[in-house]
Amino acid sequence: MKDARDFLKMEGALVLYFMLACFLAVETYAQEWAPSWQLPKRDRPANLIEAPITGRGEMSESRFFVPMICGACHTDIFAQWKGSTHAYAWYDPLFQALYQKGRQEAQGEQEEEVMDSCVRCHSPVSFTTGDWKTTTAAMPSEASKENIFCDFCHSIKATTGIGNAPFIVDPGDAAKMDFGTKRGPFKDCPETQHKTEFSELHTRSEFCGSCHDVSHAGSRLAVEQTYTEWRLGPYNTGNPDTTVHCQDCHMRQRPGVPSTGSTERPDNPGFAAPERVGGIERPHIWTHYYVGGTSLILGPPAQEPERQKMAEDRLKNAAELEILGPSSITPGELLRLRVIVTNVGAGHYIPTGLTEVRQVWLETVVTDANGKKVYRSGYLDEKGNLEEDAVIYHTVFGNKEGQPTYKVWEADYVISDYRIPPKGQMVEKYAFLVPDDAKLPLQVKTVLRYRSAPQWLAAELLGDKAPVIPVVDMAEATLTVAQTTVTQK
Ligand code: HEC
Ligand code: HEC
Ligand code: HEC
Ligand code: HEC
Ligand code: HEC
Repeated sequence: MKDARDFLKMEGALVLYFMLACFLAVETYAQEWAPSWQLPKRDRPANLIEAPITGRGEMSESRFFVPMICGACHTDIFAQWKGSTHAYAWYDPLFQALYQKGRQEAQGEQEEEVMDSCVRCHSPVSFTTGDWKTTTAAMPSEASKENIFCDFCHSIKATTGIGNAPFIVDPGDAAKMDFGTKRGPFKDCPETQHKTEFSELHTRSEFCGSCHDVSHAGSRLAVEQTYTEWRLGPYNTGNPDTTVHCQDCHMRQRPGVPSTGSTERPDNPGFAAPERVGGIERPHIWTHYYVGGTSLILGPPAQEPERQKMAEDRLKNAAELEILGPSSITPGELLRLRVIVTNVGAGHYIPTGLTEVRQVWLETVVTDANGKKVYRSGYLDEKGNLEEDAVIYHTVFGNKEGQPTYKVWEADYVISDYRIPPKGQMVEKYAFLVPDDAKLPLQVKTVLRYRSAPQWLAAELLGDKAPVIPVVDMAEATLTVAQTTVTQK
């Protein structure tokens, strides 16, 4: 693990970079787009450059190939991507509900700017082709209907910083059947079908960090910081040989191979395209499942069970729990417990990303020998809502009136941010009086639980159509507390 002082120094430096980035952003882009923040030069991949991004409406959509075409040769990759949340980023019902609400409610230039920004990440080609003002779920053009797809990611020539989608895109021309140059991890592709180019950016977290780091387009408040969390965390060792990038965990996962910080991350040997079209057998092919908690509620029906299992594999290898307490007690006494939660598997905080919506919490239940519950915390009520005093890991945003809000467009400041850092620990304390009539021994059980959104929020956004948001038990621990035996003198 990194020295705490290094961490603070880096954090200090980061604040400076951030401030500088904001300043430069205002200077160079005026009202135009700017990344959330900039990396120091020495840490940039070769194709993270200083240049104007591909602007709104600069690129004709007829230049992009729809994924089916790429899938004709890259069959496995296509099938993996097709069930991923990237392939649903625009149509995702939760996204659509929040986006439409924002389009109705956002007030003033800054908040509207934020609503325009959603399109840039959730349907990046719409932005580059000029459909960014869209207020309907239906996308006008064929390519933009494909959400975040092959020909967008592999036509990215460079980015200009971290966060807020600062892309420079260089596609071929689908209308003329010209593939252009596809950028990726290989330096020795045979180019039998289309031109290829090695892109250092694609092999590093900075590629993912171009979208997985979001700041408010108006107030610049950092709202999603997955890349920043990774960068300041222990998986970014500073040494290229030992650094564990987003891809190492998320693009090695496949059924049966969770590929997390606490499990092996083995190579996936095979072909990116069949031999007969020029594919070469390779020691490792990066997978395109991109699994996270959202996979529990999304995905085409045929793939749902497999994808849900993969999401569970990921969540169940993310954290560990331990309960510390006395080995014995007498009824009527105060029982003190400590629960230690360790993030052993995630390269960022748990949870990460949409942390104002995700819920990770501890359910702690103490039962006596008659099966009677003598204490409970972190339980769900009949409507599926979490009780108020639960230990919960998430973020709460405040609006200009100082009220908590999940509406990201009106988010003005962070009221609280309580989450588990990568390879870090949280210690939670519990204390209660053991009832006089409790029959010992007591069984203490703590479970770390996850769901993509609270049930009330799903109901508020999706109405009657709201599914029951599935809950996954990430980790659990138990402790037995016996009756203290009185030794007589
Ligand atoms: C979110 C962006 C993204 C999307 C969408 C995407 N890819 Fe990739 N792809 C990557 C990255 C990043 C790598 C390289 C990972 C690395 O080197 O660490 C990669 C690797 C590849 C490779 C090299 C072989 C391999 O997998 O190692 C091929 C071929 C490829 N992708 C094709 C596709 C096709 C076809 C689609 C659509 C069905 C697609 N990609 C969708 C980002 C993306
Ligand atoms: C007619 C077959 C065919 C089609 C269609 C096709 N590819 Fe490829 N692609 C290949 C072959 C063959 C390779 C080389 C694989 C290797 O070297 O192992 C390749 C390699 C790649 C690479 C790796 C480049 C590198 O340097 O790492 C990417 C990325 C890629 N293709 C993306 C795409 C995308 C995006 C599309 C759709 C716009 C597409 N391909 C359409 C056959 C095809
Ligand atoms: C063009 C922007 C963009 C890029 C580039 C991108 N992502 Fe994403 N990613 C998204 C969006 C938007 C979503 C949310 C989709 C939705 O609405 O559910 C997402 C979802 C995900 C999820 C699922 C999260 C969940 O809660 O289930 C994972 C995992 C993920 N991305 C990993 C990656 C990795 C790893 C990379 C880099 C190789 C990457 N992404 C690159 C925009 C992007
Ligand atoms: C050491 C392995 C590891 C690395 C590195 C890593 N992740 Fe993850 N990621 C996980 C695990 C495990 C989970 C599931 C636990 C969770 O939701 O936090 C996860 C979950 C996610 C989620 C879903 C969060 C949610 O609430 O469902 C996203 C999005 C994501 N990762 C993106 C990224 C991006 C982007 C990077 C690089 C900046 C990255 N990850 C680096 C292991 C990793
Ligand atoms: C800079 C890129 C970026 C911008 C801009 C952006 N998002 Fe996202 N969004 C993401 C990424 C990355 C994820 C996946 C994070 C995760 O799953 O934890 C995501 C996830 C989401 C989800 C969760 C989907 C699910 O099913 O759980 C919702 C809802 C959402 N975004 C709404 C919005 C809205 C509304 C806006 C505009 C106000 C917006 N986003 C702007 C990148 C972006």
